[in-house]
Amino acid sequence: MTTVYLNGKYVPKEQAMIPVEDRGFIFGDGIYEVVRVIKGAVFAWDAHAARLANGLDGLRINRAGTEGLKAVCEKLVADNALAAGEATVYLQVSRGAAPRTHHFPPANTPTTIYAAASAFTPNFAARDTGLKGITTPDIRWARCDLKTVNLLGPVLARQQAQEAGAYEALLHRDGMITEGAATNAFFVIDGVLRTYPLSHYILPGITRIEIMALVKELGIKCEERPVALLDLPRASEVFVVGTTTDVTPLVEIDGRVVGTGKPGPITVQLKEAFAKRLYAK
Ligand code: PDD
Repeated sequence: MTTVYLNGKYVPKEQAMIPVEDRGFIFGDGIYEVVRVIKGAVFAWDAHAARLANGLDGLRINRAGTEGLKAVCEKLVADNALAAGEATVYLQVSRGAAPRTHHFPPANTPTTIYAAASAFTPNFAARDTGLKGITTPDIRWARCDLKTVNLLGPVLARQQAQEAGAYEALLHRDGMITEGAATNAFFVIDGVLRTYPLSHYILPGITRIEIMALVKELGIKCEERPVALLDLPRASEVFVVGTTTDVTPLVEIDGRVVGTGKPGPITVQLKEAFAKRLYAK
């Protein structure tokens, strides 16, 4: 039996009910997080909590009730017998249930806070050998820095990738590659590591923060500067990073081999350094 968390209570998943008027369901009016939990310990919780708070503030959703969510993650992992291995926890806060109006419901409408843990098995083989990618236009709205549950752009892009036998879709806006559908993207061009700068057009990924710290520690030169779609064929290495992706090389994009077709040296160095950090305890 799976236990989930809903509005302050731990309940069997089958009994967790959300009103049909919930604004998460009707409007996609909510924020979510996905956190990694290794042997019962939440990875980079403070950064996830800060991004969640920032997202809620960005949508002007009340933060009340989100203070204790780290303990909720830990309890869900323990109660679902996932503390010995790896898990992810999905967290979602919506503006709550109310008769449908585009403008906000009355200020006293309680938010809906949901969390659920799942077992997670990293795809270590993919991290070692790399996967395929595609490119597709970034059709998302202009606040991609907010982790809202409106994920139609990524849903369509990932489906397109899947149908092409690829893992990730690299999104491009105004001729520049922003990020992956559910990852941040890094490129090595002319020997220099590059990634899209923090802005409204990408999610400030928690794994990206970790990678930027590692890059400093290891003395790898990294520029936060967009890569043009037209320059992609010049990339000798491409990798994507995220909570469930870690560092995963892309070795073929749109049917074109990247570099040698094998994960390159900077990718491998960062992949290994990140794994050390992740599994440090
Ligand atoms: N996706 N960019 C986008 C658009 C994302 O959706 C994600 C995460 C990332 C990487 O962020 P982080 O390192 O914090 O996981 C970048 C999550 C995992 C998801 O939607 O399942």
